[in-house]
Order: sequence, then structure tokens, then C-alpha cells
Amino acid sequence: MCGIVGYVGSKDAQEIIIDCLKRLEYRGYDSAGIAMISDGSISLKKSVGEISVLESIMGNMEGNLGIAHTRWATHGKPTEKNAHPFLDCVGKIAIVHNGILTNYMDLREQLVKEGHEFASETDSEVFAHLIEKSAGDSLMSEVLAALSKVEGSYAIAVIKNDNEEIIVARNESPLVIGIGHRENFVASDVTALLKYTNEFVHLQDKEVARITANSVEIFDLAGNSIQRESKRISWSVEDAERSGYPHFMLKEIFEQPQAIHESLLGRLEGQEDELPFFYSRVGSVKIVGCGTSYHAGLVGKYIIEELSKVPTTCQISSEYRYSPITESKPLVVCITQSGETADTLAAAREARKRGCKTIAITNVLGSAITREVDTVIYTRAGPEIGVAATKTFVTQLIALYLLALRVAGGRNAITSEHRREIISSMRNLPRLAQNVLNDAERIHTLAKKYKDAHSMFFIGRHINYPTSLEGALKTKEISYIHGEGYPAGELKHGPLALLSCDTPVIAICVRDHTYEKMLGNVREVAARDAPVLAVGIEGDIDLDKFAEDVFLVPEVEPLFSPIPIIIALQLFSYYLALERGCPIDKPRNIAKTVTVE
Ligand code: M6R
Repeated sequence: MCGIVGYVGSKDAQEIIIDCLKRLEYRGYDSAGIAMISDGSISLKKSVGEISVLESIMGNMEGNLGIAHTRWATHGKPTEKNAHPFLDCVGKIAIVHNGILTNYMDLREQLVKEGHEFASETDSEVFAHLIEKSAGDSLMSEVLAALSKVEGSYAIAVIKNDNEEIIVARNESPLVIGIGHRENFVASDVTALLKYTNEFVHLQDKEVARITANSVEIFDLAGNSIQRESKRISWSVEDAERSGYPHFMLKEIFEQPQAIHESLLGRLEGQEDELPFFYSRVGSVKIVGCGTSYHAGLVGKYIIEELSKVPTTCQISSEYRYSPITESKPLVVCITQSGETADTLAAAREARKRGCKTIAITNVLGSAITREVDTVIYTRAGPEIGVAATKTFVTQLIALYLLALRVAGGRNAITSEHRREIISSMRNLPRLAQNVLNDAERIHTLAKKYKDAHSMFFIGRHINYPTSLEGALKTKEISYIHGEGYPAGELKHGPLALLSCDTPVIAICVRDHTYEKMLGNVREVAARDAPVLAVGIEGDIDLDKFAEDVFLVPEVEPLFSPIPIIIALQLFSYYLALERGCPIDKPRNIAKTVTVE
């Protein structure tokens, strides 16, 4: 997804901007560009491909104020002319834009009729011409006039040749302002700026800000001033760097014991203050999310129903708004690590419209979802840079265990003894996660064996059916091997036709009430000559008899088994991708944060 960076201060803006832009690379992009103001004029450089290509052509661009962009093509091909920033007709205004303008065709047609010349095929360029056309008494008034004409989503940053300010605005596309000492910053994401500041102002939808080296002023779209306190974020720059790991994904997989520990800290033994008591009186729960967050929600359904006995359903965010209202006002839990996923934001708004109480489970302080819901549970995973969600998934599960405990407690659904057992198991989770990581080399060896497969099945039952979905998603997005997650009992209803000696099956076999049936499925698969890699629990001596390979995770209560098992599957997909030479942190065609519906 596109990235925006801006700087105004007294330092060399080019160096800072490029450094910050590189920290947004993980979002995915196919072209990049920078515009700087120096001696009353705007200089512009753009290129297709990596930021290193831009660096190689840009030379020394002088100035203390500039904006830059990484573009992920939507309207128009990834070409140099479609790369941001865009200029107006006379080269006095430069803009960068993330989002999608839904009425840009009409606006462009009108602007062309009026004599404006367009250099690109993008929707974004209309901003530059609309601002030029406005010709007000300040850049702020010109931007406000332009914004009154556009429909759709945007995060924009605008500069003008004779001004020492950056004007920014947002609507349904993330943008943060970093506060420095006699310098200020703009970025799509706080991780881009952590090297320079920990203090941030989060711009909200339909807000505009005027940023100079010494001030940040916020306004609504009518130009009324808005007061907003800045927030300090505890993440450090090291948290957002690779720290010696070859990839962010591997670093983030290995950070899971700590992330689980942090996410539990102070939240056990009745200290779950973030959850107002009335949530425990809900009649039903509906969980919404996308991708990995949806999978966490599917696991959450089993957790909540088992601990609290409250009927729970889970739905993909983009489907929720089209579904009929069948339950009477469930508690709606919106899961999104970034807090900026457009589909989940839309689902949260829809839930409120339907009169439901809402909770968000998110990893990002001040993100958009936190303003759309009644209560937030933060996951405390630290920044996740790798496109593949790993530690955020596991900490989302932690949040769901905590939520389930709270709901169960409020309804007296579990005995105090059972509650003590659950809490004691949860305290053990960081150690359990570490034990799986200690076995990473064994998983690497298995990945070397299976790396040439074209297609794999991941099967599981009950609470580990969603774990199989998540294992399959990790594998396909990182290693580009087609991975299909399936409820093990469903194989015989169709997919068995696809199995052969070239189709490995990863079977999750936990010693719960589904175990015997899983063994049956493993036999069924082995009988079709498909190689089985069984992922089971320490002490299991039966799996060896039917599976070609076995990986055992430490002894764990079945309710908590998705955690060690998904860590094993994350490592498996990571090593598959490594052996296949895939670009692990930036897989093709996908973005870390998806801000379009
Ligand atoms: O930020 P979110 O949790 O809302 O993101 C939702 C999905 O885009 C995300 O989980 C995606 O599926 C993962 N990055 C895949 O690893």
C-alpha cells in the first residue's frame, strides 16, 4: 500500500525523507518519488522500482522541506509518470496522495476543459490541479477548497514553492504527524518516524493540518480549529529494525514469547480494567476481521464458546455489512492489527449503526479503529513490519482468551478452580512458545524436504481448523506454494480428488476429542500416497505409524494448542519461502495495510 513521508525543519530534508521512506518499504510499492523546496522552487524526482533506484537518480536535492511517496499502482500502471508527487500546471504545487478518489473522472474532465494539463493516468493528480485552480489567499484555504470537491478516501501532503509549510489531510487513509524539536514530520505510519520521534498526533478523518518547523495546527474541513494532544508511543526504533535477523518475519516470529508476556502483563487475576463490566452481560458475540485477523476470530469463537458458553459467530469484515441482522445486538469484536483496514472499519461503523456495543482488538495506539468502537483491547505485540502477520496473530489470540475469561466471569460460567487453571496455563504460554522456537532448525529441515511442492493441504479439526487456515495463508503468501486450509472431516467430500504423492498434507493432530478422527484422516490421506507431515503434541507415539514426518510441540491444553502449533507453521512457511528464494518481507501483490474496501 502506498506510503507518504514529509519533513519540515532545519536539517537536510532529503536524507531524512529517504530514510523514513525506506522504513515504509514493507507496505509494498512499485514506484517512488520525492519533491523538495529549495530557493523558492520545487525540484522533483521519480522512478519505477525500488527506492534505491530513486536514490541513484536523485543526486543532491537541497532544502529543508519536502514530501515523498511510495506508490502501489491502482489507477494507472506502475510507470514513472504515474509515480507521485504530482505537480500543478506551473510546477508551484506538489502533492502526494494515498487512497482512491471515486469522482476523479468527472473532476479531471472538468479540469481538462478548463485548460489543465495532466501528466499521469492517476486519480491523485486531480488534487494538484484542484489546488492550483482554487487560488486562495493561503495554501490551507486552497487545499480546503480542493477537498470540498473530492469524494473518496485520501491521505494527502501538499507543498508550495514559496511556503515553509506542509498541508496534510486525511479521510479513511492513515496519516500521522511526528512532533520533533524545531522540526516536524508526516508519515503514513509511526514506524517510519520512530528514529526521529516518539511523539505523535494522529490526524482523524476529515481533518486537515498545517505543519511548519515549529507548529502543528489542526482544522476541520470547514476551517475550524481543533485542539488535539500528542501521544507518546513506547515503541523504540530497534523494535522496528531487523536487529541482525535476515528478515522481519523471522524476527517477529522469535519475538512471540515476549509479545505474549507483554500482552498478559497486569491483565490476569481480575485486572482486566480495559474491559467494562457490561460486556460480560452480552447474549451473543460476533467477531469480524480480514485475513489473519479473521482467522484469529475463528479461533476466538471456540475460545469464547468454550469458556463462557456465549454463542459466537465470526464473519469476514467485508461480508458483515451485507448480512441480514439475525441476532439481537451481539457484542461485535473487530479484530485488526493495523487498526486501519478499510473493510474492518466499515464493519465497525455498520455494527454501531445496528446498535451493537463494539470492541476493537488492535496493535496500534490511536489507529482509526480505536475511534470507531466503544472499547479497545491493545495487543502489545510491538511494531510488526513483515507483511505476514505473525506476532500480532498470536497476541490477538491472547486478547481473545482475556475477553472470554471476562465474559465467562461476568456470567459465572466457569468455576474459580477452572479459572485458576486457565490463568496458570496462560502464564505458561511464553515458555511454551519459546520451546517451539528452540526447535526451529528441525522445522527448517522439514521445509527443505517439502519446498518443491506446488500445492499443500493443511487440515485440522475444531479449534485447530482455523489454525490450519492460518498455516495455509502463511504458506501461500510467503512461499507462493498454493496452500489450502480444510476441516479434516471435509476432505472426503471432494478435495481427496486432488491428493497424490505430490501433494503434501500438513495434519494438525492434537490430543483432544477430535484426535481419533484426525488419525483416521491421516490414514485416509496416506492411503492416497500423499505425504503427511503431522504436527502433534509431545509424547504422541502413534503419529509416526501413519505420517511420513512428525513435528511435536510441547504438551499444552487443547484450548491453547493453536499458539504453539501456529508458531511451528509460521516457521515452516518462513523456511519454505527462504529455500525457494522468495522476497519474504515483501511478497508480491500484497500490502501490509489494506486501506481500500
Ligand atoms: O491490519 P489487519 O489485521 O486488519 O489486516 C488484515 C489482513 O490484511 C491481514 O491479516 C493479512 O491477511 C495478513 N497480513 C496476512 O499475513
